[in-house]
Amino acid sequence: MIRKAIIPAAGYGTRFLPASKAIPKELIPVVDKPTIQYVVEEAVAAGINEILIIISRGKEAICSHFNPDPVLEDLLRQKGRESSLETLKSLQEKAQIHFIYQEEMKGLGDAVLCARDFAGQETVAILLGDTILHHASPPSPLEGMMEVHRNRGGSVIAVRRVPRQRVSQYGVISGQPIDPRLTRIQGMVEKPKPEEAPSLLAVSARYLVTPQLFECLADTLPGVGGEIQITDALDQLCRREVVYGYEFDGIRLDIGNQLEYIKSNLMLGLHEPAMREALLQFMAEQVSIHGSANPAASEG
Ligand code: G1P
Repeated sequence: MIRKAIIPAAGYGTRFLPASKAIPKELIPVVDKPTIQYVVEEAVAAGINEILIIISRGKEAICSHFNPDPVLEDLLRQKGRESSLETLKSLQEKAQIHFIYQEEMKGLGDAVLCARDFAGQETVAILLGDTILHHASPPSPLEGMMEVHRNRGGSVIAVRRVPRQRVSQYGVISGQPIDPRLTRIQGMVEKPKPEEAPSLLAVSARYLVTPQLFECLADTLPGVGGEIQITDALDQLCRREVVYGYEFDGIRLDIGNQLEYIKSNLMLGLHEPAMREALLQFMAEQVSIHGSANPAASEG
C-alpha cells in the first residue's frame, strides 16, 4: 500500500516565461484549476493521503492554494456558495499536504532528495507538479504502476514511446521487455542525443520508488545541465534493485511547453460536457478560416 507522494514544484519554469515570472508554472490553470491540483487529485484518487510538495523561494503561492483559508470559507458560507466551498475543502479533508523548500536550485534529483526524511522506509510516489496524465478509463497510470509494484515489488517508472527526434527532452530507458507494457530497466540516460538514445521509451513524470533511491540520490553528482538528475540516481538504482518501466494508457500533458499547454486546455475542455459542443464548433470554425492541418507538422 503506497500512501505517500512527493510532488516536486521547485523549478524556475523558464520554459513558460513570462507567464511563470510571478505565478509558479504549477499554478497556471488548465480549464478551471491549477495544474498541480490535477496532480494532487490524481495522487488522492490512487489512495495517497500524505503529500509533500517541494517548492523554492518565491513559489509560496502554491502553499496558499492548498492551505485552508477560514476567511474565504466563511465568506462562501455566508453567500450560500456551498459547492465552491466543497471544492476547496474536499482535497484538504482527503490528504495532508506538507511543504518543504529546496534551498538551492540544484536539479530535480536534489529536489527529490529534500523528501528523504518524509519518505522514510516506505516506497513512495513521485509526481512532477507540471504534468497532468489524462486517462480515459481506470486504472489511472499511477494506479497501474501501483499494481505492478504490488505484484512484483521494486520501483516502477512511467514511460511512453516518443518519436526519435524528441528523445533529447527526456530521460530514456534501456532494458528487456517482459510483457506488453513492462520493461525490466537496465539503464537510464538523461536527455540523450537522438542518435545515442538507447530506446524510444521516455520517462513520463511519474515514479514509484523504494527507499534505496534516496541512497543513490545522495551519491549522485551533477549531470546534464550541471544539475543533479533523478535519472542518474535511477540508473544506479536499477543496478542494485529491480526497476520496471511501465507503458501507461493515457496522455501526458506537460504544461511547461506552450503548445502542449494550449492542447491541454482544449483536450480537458472537450471532456467538460458544458463546453464540449461550443468548443468543437469553435475549432471547426477555426479550421475553416485557417485551413486544415498539415499532418507532417503534428508533434506525434
Ligand atoms: C524531467 C526529467 C526527465 C523526464 C521529464 C518528463 O525533465 O528529468 O527525465 O523525462 O521530466 O517526465 P524536465 O522536463 O524537467 O526537463
